[in-house]
Amino acid sequence: VKLSKENIDYLIGFIKKETGISISADKEYLLESRLSRVIKKLDLEDYNSLISELRFRKEEAVKNTVDALTTNETYFFRDHKPFEFFEKKILPDMILKIPDRSTVRIWCAACSSGQEPYSLAMILRENQNLLEERKVQILATDISNKIISKASEGVFNQFEVQRGLPVTYLVKYFDKLDENHWKIKDEISSSVDFKLLNLIADYDVINECDLIFCRNVLIYFDDETKKMILGKISRKLKKDGYLFLGTSETSNLLPEFYKQNQDMRSIYQKI
Ligand SMILES: C[S@@+](CC[C@H](N)C(=O)[O-])C[C@H]1O[C@@H](n2cnc3c(N)ncnc32)[C@H](O)[C@@H]1O
Repeated sequence: VKLSKENIDYLIGFIKKETGISISADKEYLLESRLSRVIKKLDLEDYNSLISELRFRKEEAVKNTVDALTTNETYFFRDHKPFEFFEKKILPDMILKIPDRSTVRIWCAACSSGQEPYSLAMILRENQNLLEERKVQILATDISNKIISKASEGVFNQFEVQRGLPVTYLVKYFDKLDENHWKIKDEISSSVDFKLLNLIADYDVINECDLIFCRNVLIYFDDETKKMILGKISRKLKKDGYLFLGTSETSNLLPEFYKQNQDMRSIYQKI
C-alpha cells in the first residue's frame, strides 16, 4: 500500500521534531517499508491508523516509529584506523591530563547496539598498565529504546562478532552462549553504562568528559541541527578533551575552540 502525500509530509515533520533526523520527500519507499513493519507489529490497520496514534502520542506507536526510522548500522572497531590511532596516539597523551585515582570519562553519543563503546572498553582494558589507578566510565547513549536494550544485553551473534572484532579479543573478552551467540564478559561491560538520550533534547545526565565519540550520526541532520548538537556536545567536553567524528566526517560547524588533528582529520581537540 502506498503512503499519501499528506501522510508522507506528516511523517517527515514528525520524525524531524522527535529526533532531528531529516528525511527527504523522495524516501517514500523507506517510510513505507519500515512503517509497514510497525503497523504489523502493533496490529494496526494501515498508515492512517498509525498516524492517528502518532497524533495522539500513543507511546508504543511513537517508540516503534522512532526505532524503525533510525539506522543502526555499526560494527566493532568500525573503520579500524580511528581506534588504532586512539590507542597509540591519543590515549597515552590524554591519560597524562587525568589525575591518578580519578575517573576517565568517555561518552559515545550515538552508540547503536554497543559495538563502539565495547570496542573502547576493550582498548582501555588492554592498556590497564597505562591507566594505573584510574577508573574508566563509558556512558553510551542512543535515542532508540530497542537498540539500547540490545546494547546493554551485550549479546552478539556470529555475524556481528565476525565484523571488525579481532579473534584474540573474541576469545579473551566473550563467553560463548550457544552455536550462534556470544556474550561480552563483565570485566568489559561493567565499565559501560547505557542510557536513552535524544541528541536534540537536554544532556543533564552527561558529566564533563575526557573523550566524546559522535560518529556516523550527524549525517542524518540538517546543518542547523548539526550545529546545535555540536555546540551542546562541546559543552560536555573538558578542556584538552578529544572529539571523534566519523572517519570521513569533518565539520565546519564546530565551535571555534577546536584544534583539528592533522594526521586524522575527523579528530578534534578542545583547546
Ligand atoms: C549509524 S548508527 C552509528 C553508530 C556508531 N556511532 C557507529 O559509528 O558505528 C547511528 C545511531 O544514531 C542514533 N540516533 C539517530 N538520531 C539520534 C538522536 N536524535 N539522538 C540520539 N541518537 C540518535 C540511531 O538510533 C543510531 O543507532
